[in-house]
Amino acid sequence: MKYLIINGSPRKKNTWNIVRQVEENLDGEFEEIHLIKHKIPMCNGCFKCFEKGESECPHFEYLNPIVEKIKECDGLIITSPVYALNVSGLLKNLFDHTAYIYHRPQFFDKKALIVVSTAGAGQKNVAKYMDETLRHWGFNKNYKLAFAFGDRENLEAKEISKINKTSQKFRNDVESKKLHGPKFMDLIFYNAWRALAQSDNPNRADQEYWENSDLANHEFAPIVKLNIIKRICGKIFFFMFKRMF
Ligand SMILES: Cc1cc2nc3c(=O)[nH]c(=O)nc-3n(C[C@H](O)[C@H](O)[C@H](O)COP(=O)(O)O)c2cc1C
Repeated sequence: MKYLIINGSPRKKNTWNIVRQVEENLDGEFEEIHLIKHKIPMCNGCFKCFEKGESECPHFEYLNPIVEKIKECDGLIITSPVYALNVSGLLKNLFDHTAYIYHRPQFFDKKALIVVSTAGAGQKNVAKYMDETLRHWGFNKNYKLAFAFGDRENLEAKEISKINKTSQKFRNDVESKKLHGPKFMDLIFYNAWRALAQSDNPNRADQEYWENSDLANHEFAPIVKLNIIKRICGKIFFFMFKRMF
């Protein structure tokens, strides 16, 4: 299995200690992207990725290798320390640059392990925000490890045990290649973006993506099986959003 680690911490300390323990439980190749080293300029809000396509981003050369590596991996490990009750600026800058993927979800066969560390607060909300972002991107299933360390850097036995358990679940899931049915919220997100791409005034890049990938004709990505109830709900959500937009 190929695991890609995107490290949103500028250092290899508290958050990285968790990653090291995660790695003990996984079997495969690991590739590391330390965002601090990539020196991605700040998103300048030009809207080109949304309207014309991601290759028009002035920082495409920084972003494209990272997105391509996400496409190639079997499992993504994505990390952030809590900074001012949110993700680090490094990770937020990556999320800003890849916000077009909310509009054009694509990682339907991917699973992720989200790793967050904090001194005292915010870890659950930050892990939840990262989970939401990846789900908008199409990720099939995300696992979360979020810890408050106080002033201490070393892992305690109960933390190690939690890391081991969650990592093994993540590993089994990645290795099984089994795709889980979407949650109702995922169906809502998907059909909102699908309807937006077919509205009277869509972004050209969104419209092309949904039509060319044939996702426009499906209640959810066809590689993921939908039971009849979810299929009907998908149709209803799409109809509602189509009317709204
Ligand atoms: C700029 C900055 C902002 C931070 N903001 C918070 C915060 O809002 N809440 C908190 O509990 N800890 C906060 N911390 C502490 C870090 O989240 C915590 O020490 C974390 O484990 C650091 O991870 P690292 O070793 O990977 O850098 C902040 C630290 C820094 C440097």
